[in-house]
Amino acid sequence: MFNASEFIEESILKLKEEIGDRKAIIALSGGVDSSVAAVLASKAIGDRLLAVFVDTGLMRKNEAEEIYNIFKGDLGINLKIIDKKDLFLKELSGIKDPEEKRKIIGRLFIEVFEEVAKENGEEVLVQGTIAPDWIESEGDIKTHHNIALPSGMVLEVVEPLRDLYKDEVRIVAKELGLPDKIANRQPFPGPGLAVRVLGEITLEKLEVCREANAIVEEEIEKEGLNKKLWQYFAAVLDTKATGVKGDVREYNWVVAIRMVESLDAMTANVPEISFAILKRISKRITSEVPNVARVVFDITDKPPATIEFE
Ligand code: XMP
Repeated sequence: MFNASEFIEESILKLKEEIGDRKAIIALSGGVDSSVAAVLASKAIGDRLLAVFVDTGLMRKNEAEEIYNIFKGDLGINLKIIDKKDLFLKELSGIKDPEEKRKIIGRLFIEVFEEVAKENGEEVLVQGTIAPDWIESEGDIKTHHNIALPSGMVLEVVEPLRDLYKDEVRIVAKELGLPDKIANRQPFPGPGLAVRVLGEITLEKLEVCREANAIVEEEIEKEGLNKKLWQYFAAVLDTKATGVKGDVREYNWVVAIRMVESLDAMTANVPEISFAILKRISKRITSEVPNVARVVFDITDKPPATIEFE
C-alpha cells in the first residue's frame, strides 16, 4: 500500500542530497505532476528553487492568477510568472498546421526557460516526470540524465516522481495540502488552448475558446461529474456558421464540446451525459461568450478520433 507521508519524507531527503547547495529551476504548469514536484523541491531547498510559470496566453481562464495565489501566496514558493503572451501569439500568427503549432510552442518554451535559467544561474532542473511517461516509451531505468539547452548550458535533471503513477501523485498532492483544484485537475495539453483553436490562432478565437472552456469546467464541476470524466472541454472550429440573435442574423464561430471517460488516454469513450446539462452549457456559451453562433457536441470515441481536436 502506497504511503504518501513516507514518500514525502524520503523524497525531500533525496532531493536535498541530489541538489546539494546548488540552485534548481522547475517549469510549473499548474498540472498535478509539476505542482507536486515543485512543492517537494521547495521543501527540500527553499528559495534556492525557482519555479517558472510561462504565461503563453494559451492557458485557461485566470490560470496565471490562480497559480500565483496558490504557489506564491499560500505555499510561499519562489515563483516567477513570465508574461510571454505577445511573443507566443506573434510567432503563432498565420500557422494552421497542428504539428507546426506544437513545434513553435515547444521551441519558445525552451527559449524562455533558458533565458531565465541563464539569468539566475541554476544548475539543476527538477521535472515532474512520472512512471508512465518513461516506462512505455523507452524502458529507461536511469534515475539521472542531463539536458543541454541550445546555448550549450547543461542542466542536471532530477525527477522526484519517477516511480509514481498518477493516482499516487494525486494522493501526495492532497497530503502536501495542495487544493483539490490542483490535486484532481483534469489533464491539459502542453500546447494549451492552441490545439483547441482549430486552424489559425487569433486573439478572438482564443478568447472564445478560453471562455467556453471555463463554462464547461464550471458546469461539469458543479454537477460533480469531474470525478467521472477524464477530460471535459471546448474547442473552436475553424469555420463560421449562421446564427440569429434578436432579429439580427450573424455569421460566427462554432464551439464544439467534448467530454470523455478514459483510464489512460489511449482509448476514450464519450459518456451518455444528461441532455439538460449539455443544453445549459450551450445556452451559457451562446449568451455569455461573444462571437459564437452555435454549439455542437462531439460524439466520437477514441479511436477513431483523438481526445484533443488537433
Ligand atoms: P489525444 O488528443 O492524442 O490526447 O488523444 C491524449 C492525451 O494527451 C493530451 N495531449 C497532449 N499533451 N502535449 C501534451 O502535453 C500535447 O501536444 C498533447 N496533445 C494531446 C490530451 O489532452 C489527452 O489527455
